[in-house]
Amino acid sequence: MYKIAVIGGDGTGPEVVAEGLKVLAATAAIEGFQYECRHYDLGGDRYLRTGEVLPDSAVDELRQFHAIYLGAIGHPDVPPGVLEKGLLLRLRFELDQYINLRPVKLYPGVDTPLKDKGPEDIDFTVVRENTEDLYVGAGGFMKKGTPDEVAVQESINTRKGVERCVRWAFEHCRRRNNPKHRLTLVAKTNVLTYAHDLWWRTFQEVSKEYSDIEADYNHVDACCMWMVKNPEYYDTIVTTNMFGDIITDLGAMIQGGMGIAAGGNINPEGTSMFEPIGGSAPKYTGKGVINPLAAICALAMLLDTIGEAKAGARIEKAVQSVTATKVKSMSAGKMGYSTSEVGDLVVAGLEG
Ligand code: IPM
Ligand code: MN
Repeated sequence: MYKIAVIGGDGTGPEVVAEGLKVLAATAAIEGFQYECRHYDLGGDRYLRTGEVLPDSAVDELRQFHAIYLGAIGHPDVPPGVLEKGLLLRLRFELDQYINLRPVKLYPGVDTPLKDKGPEDIDFTVVRENTEDLYVGAGGFMKKGTPDEVAVQESINTRKGVERCVRWAFEHCRRRNNPKHRLTLVAKTNVLTYAHDLWWRTFQEVSKEYSDIEADYNHVDACCMWMVKNPEYYDTIVTTNMFGDIITDLGAMIQGGMGIAAGGNINPEGTSMFEPIGGSAPKYTGKGVINPLAAICALAMLLDTIGEAKAGARIEKAVQSVTATKVKSMSAGKMGYSTSEVGDLVVAGLEG
């Protein structure tokens, strides 16, 4: 019996999560596994109502689940940083979800802005470190608001944190078993000569344990160029938290947009959390036009991670049949179907 915590969150989050849960119910019936969900009312509305972002007791409860299924965080009436840091980043950090896994995969029938590129060209994964770097919130102000103001924001990189991420990426690359067998470290060793020297040395050392995988390196700016020019070059990328944040938005665009891009915040030894990587899209809330496929793909990743790989693969196949033959566009309002109709199409495709 799997225990799954559900955080619909803000904006369109609850709508897309509802479609994911529909697909979960149908998949569980076919694959014959059992689960129970518990819903958590967290996000901007709750904060505006009660002043509470994430009670300590909720964090301790969430640890007890096999996985967390998250819709979206971000509310137009809440100042920037409150929910992002207080909820999303706090969960990533406190649950030690040190991997952010983001597949960049163009499904059949999905438009990419890259001319002459197809599904055979765009199929790689980004392993983003998820607990360190500029995201730790180390820094401060001096003489704030004066002409002499100083603002410092530090990138923290630990040997342990880098090594566990790099090792996980090598394992993931091996498990993908893509014919390229290539893990590319994406960093900026020519400028960040302390932090990324640590990344570089760690990567070289760990690579000795993986002679079956090519240990490759790109500077992050060059990576952005290649992702657009030659995405077929990549198999698996491992990178820092900040660079991973940026290049995975680029990745989402080349795979067809935020409507289809999913990710997992993974603690390989603990509780992981899965989410569509786009935001809460407040302007579409309640209209039934948002694309639920990213959330459904996040559910597939969730199942894969908790040990239901067959169920995850079944959902991914159903999504691919829906993108190939039904949904016209990945963009909100242009799918040719409503949010819940797209969910129904995926359910209908599960038996395929
Ligand atoms: C993401 C988001 C978050 C991040 C924000 C909302 C804090 O952009 O998941 O990529 O920067 O990690
Ligand atoms: Mn981001």
